[in-house]
Amino acid sequence: MNIATRLFNSSLGMKYLMSITGFGLAGFVIAHLIGNLQIFLGKDVINRYGHFLQSNLELIWPARIALLAMVILHIWAAIRLSALNRAARPVSYKKWSPTAASYASRTMLMSGLIVFFFIIYHLLHFTVQVEAINLTGQNFVTFSEPLPDGSTRHDVFRMMVAGFSNPIVSIFYIIAMALLALHLSHGLQAMFFSLGWKKRSYAGLLDGAAKAVAIFIFIGYVSIPIAILFFKYGKEALN
Ligand code: HEM
Repeated sequence: MNIATRLFNSSLGMKYLMSITGFGLAGFVIAHLIGNLQIFLGKDVINRYGHFLQSNLELIWPARIALLAMVILHIWAAIRLSALNRAARPVSYKKWSPTAASYASRTMLMSGLIVFFFIIYHLLHFTVQVEAINLTGQNFVTFSEPLPDGSTRHDVFRMMVAGFSNPIVSIFYIIAMALLALHLSHGLQAMFFSLGWKKRSYAGLLDGAAKAVAIFIFIGYVSIPIAILFFKYGKEALN
């Protein structure tokens, strides 16, 4: 058996695959957050950013393909890992009782699934802009901003303000972000463990760093629906 086949048939190999893809996805989550936080710099800044992404197809398509590949590999490794672990479990199912580790992995599966469904909803909401699921009765595709040179660009600012003015949508996003943060916090800690770093003296520091990253991501993302829904940020865009 060559090294690649051995890795694909071992739980360690699957853990590495989950760690690498999870790390890449976490990188996207941080980059996307930084992009989105530009909403607080005003309509012009966020609309320019949205327009830049949409008009650079040679940037956006490779990124989309890489993201999709990472999501598929991450889920595939999770399924394969749980199958390998089940096959290797020494006690029979009758005697099996949940441990702290299995509790963490079950919450990972649940939070991962919910985050996955959130991403599907989110893509339909803001990327494909399906009117029926935004619960505002408005068509985001028609939101465009005229520019001084006579051209137009998509009004991402108005889309976000209109989108998060709906309490059901905003609360759904906030819950999904909490689960994403939980998933990331456990996932990063598991990644440090798989890499063998947790044996070292700085294990506690690494766990703290994983939690800090998750809290930063949670606060950063929820600040947007909270500012719009509760503090009426950007409400002038709806007039
Ligand atoms: C409050 C939270 C979020 C806001 C306000 C937000 C905002 C947006 C917006 C406005 C777009 C469309 C960009 C455009 O086409 O102009 C978008 C796309 C996207 N978002 Fe989010 N996002 C949030 C959270 C997330 C999270 C947590 C994830 C992943 C876990 C995510 C993943 C994506 C992806 C994959 C796209 C599609 C990018 C593309 O291919 O065009 N977003 N987001």
